[in-house]
Amino acid sequence: MKPITLPGIDEYAEAHTTPDPAFMRQISENTWRSLTDPQMISGPSQARFLQFLVYALRPRQVLEIGTFSGYSALAMAAALPPGGHVLTCEINDRHAAMARDHIARSPYAGRVTVETGPALETLDRLPGPFDFVFMDAAKQEYLACLEAVLPKLSEHAMIAADNTLWNGEVLYEDDEDADVVALRAFNDAVVADPRLECVLVTLRDGVTLIRRAAR
Ligand SMILES: C[S@@+](CC[C@H](N)C(=O)[O-])C[C@H]1O[C@@H](n2cnc3c(N)ncnc32)[C@H](O)[C@@H]1O
Repeated sequence: MKPITLPGIDEYAEAHTTPDPAFMRQISENTWRSLTDPQMISGPSQARFLQFLVYALRPRQVLEIGTFSGYSALAMAAALPPGGHVLTCEINDRHAAMARDHIARSPYAGRVTVETGPALETLDRLPGPFDFVFMDAAKQEYLACLEAVLPKLSEHAMIAADNTLWNGEVLYEDDEDADVVALRAFNDAVVADPRLECVLVTLRDGVTLIRRAAR
């Protein structure tokens, strides 16, 4: 697979982005040392990008779909306004346990709750309203998660869907990998949906920002 940016560009961007605080670097190190598929963790540029969105939006309730080790949830928690909260969904007990441990040791222990179980079932029983949603779990469930959260969004809410370029593989129509097919279908459906406005940001692996269309 070809790199999707010029060689060195991602590293340059990261070197010119405010670095992680020590506790976030520690979470990243623990994740790379102890979990399989550690590359699932967001990088520092993405964490900082999410944090800027949260800082600008000032959400009371953030929903994250896909906790992993708690890194992105804590990045968002750090930028919340007073009274703000991150609710994050995780299907894997080991990931949820590690995330809870990282959250408890962080400066933001009271701001993040991990809900264990399949995200679509968890979403069914969560009332919302959500002011910001970060989708970063099963790629084949992105469309179903989008439909589940849409009725539970607050008026000025925004969704960020991660990995929408999937290492550039979305470009290759003959790539029949199930995740690639699902992400292509998601990208096509979102841009064609008259209820929505979106922008696919070419940050790292692609992150699509989505909101309800202006009336
Ligand atoms: C890409 S990782 C999340 C990374 C995390 N947001 C971060 O940036 O550090 C995806 C996570 O979603 C979880 N997951 C996968 N399918 C899920 C589902 N149906 N419901 C809830 N969590 C799921 C995986 O176990 C994994 O921990």
